[in-house]
Amino acid sequence: MGLTTALGLAKLGHSVVGVEINPEKLHSLNSGKLPIYEPGLESELLGSLKSGRVVLKAAIQDATSDSKMFFICVPTPQDDVGAADLKFVIAASKDVAEHASPDSVVVIKSTVPVGTGEMLRSLIGRDDISFASNPEFLREGSALQDFMEPDRILVGADTSKVSDNVLALYANIDAPKLSTSVKSAELIKYAANAYLASRLSFVNDLAALCEQVGADVDDVVSGMGSDSRIGSRFLHPGPGWGGSCFPKDTRALVSVAQNNGVSLGVVGAAIQSNDNAFSRVVTRLKSLLGNELNGKIIAVWGLAFKANTDDTRDSPSLEIIKRLLSKGSKVTAFDPIASAPNWEGLTQVETAVEAATNADALLILTEWSEFSQVDPKPIANVMSGSVVLDTRRILPVEKWSSEFETFKILGNGA
Ligand code: UDX
Repeated sequence: MGLTTALGLAKLGHSVVGVEINPEKLHSLNSGKLPIYEPGLESELLGSLKSGRVVLKAAIQDATSDSKMFFICVPTPQDDVGAADLKFVIAASKDVAEHASPDSVVVIKSTVPVGTGEMLRSLIGRDDISFASNPEFLREGSALQDFMEPDRILVGADTSKVSDNVLALYANIDAPKLSTSVKSAELIKYAANAYLASRLSFVNDLAALCEQVGADVDDVVSGMGSDSRIGSRFLHPGPGWGGSCFPKDTRALVSVAQNNGVSLGVVGAAIQSNDNAFSRVVTRLKSLLGNELNGKIIAVWGLAFKANTDDTRDSPSLEIIKRLLSKGSKVTAFDPIASAPNWEGLTQVETAVEAATNADALLILTEWSEFSQVDPKPIANVMSGSVVLDTRRILPVEKWSSEFETFKILGNGA
């Protein structure tokens, strides 16, 4: 998020000093190499470093002399009880406040619980600098595009002067600009993520019902989504939702609500439903394998939490693999980019065919588009079983079902 913000602001014509305190990451970035896989970002980084629009430094002191606007883009991981751990946000804000000149604005881009801006202001105790909230809504895999073409730009600030100053940075972007209080902006980010996650849980539950009653979830969803009040985006069923944001942000929102004596029952249910979604994949595969997972070899295509990223944080795929391993299965996994953890019983291989070799069943868990191009014939030839379960609904049904005795897609009763 920090890198995308730096490159995005530079693209908008600003001079940006990026601070990265991890020396290895800084070195890699300064040589134009991304430590993560994110389409389009590497070439943008190279261009911005070359033009000098972005310079990357090791410490805040190196960024303070001319800067008036400081974007905090550090992670807010989950703590032991599911709340957001603010230690990095606090450390970075203190660091900035120690060096920032009067009238500077500290802009929090990290996802932080409502009340964080207020807390930082009193913790830091400098009346001559302001705090603003400018949440990001970037998706991994399309981060830079989301930065340049957002649905809206949101700034929470205590005064319209601060809010206007932050919004002015985005003057060249044609998108609705929203000004709110700091608290409202902080909450909007969580509310958006929790709503989207709940929407997916709803669809995934519906997919399970479709399987039971013999309906097809795509038809149901497209019928639902053509109601303009609902809309058709972000309604694609899958093995459960994951990633670096939804799981932690939903739990953090529930935790904030609990601390304030409010029950966010829908969000709590969405989290539970997501766990059920993982279990359903395991149960369905078990039943397709004659009610036995112990000793079975399962080929898995996809480790990343979604396509076009190497991120496996809170990946549904890893959660499902963990459950398969605990039932005594062996898993052979292939992902075009993401790496598998070092778990007993899990082997990562280099190709889709290799993963399928000798497998009793093939399970599709991430929607990499290249999976839909794979010819099913050689896959059927190398597998020892004839079961395929596509939880992302990306394989061409006719082609695949003619090669396999049991070809099933999530959310379809047939
Ligand atoms: C999300 C938010 O979309 C973004 O606005 C916020 O800034 C960060 O969190 P991201 O984590 O990159 O972005 O992933 P997203 O594309 O939202 O997908 C999250 C999860 O939902 C993935 O596991 C994905 O596979 C799943 N998903 C998404 C579905 O199962 N179906 C869908 O229709 C969309």
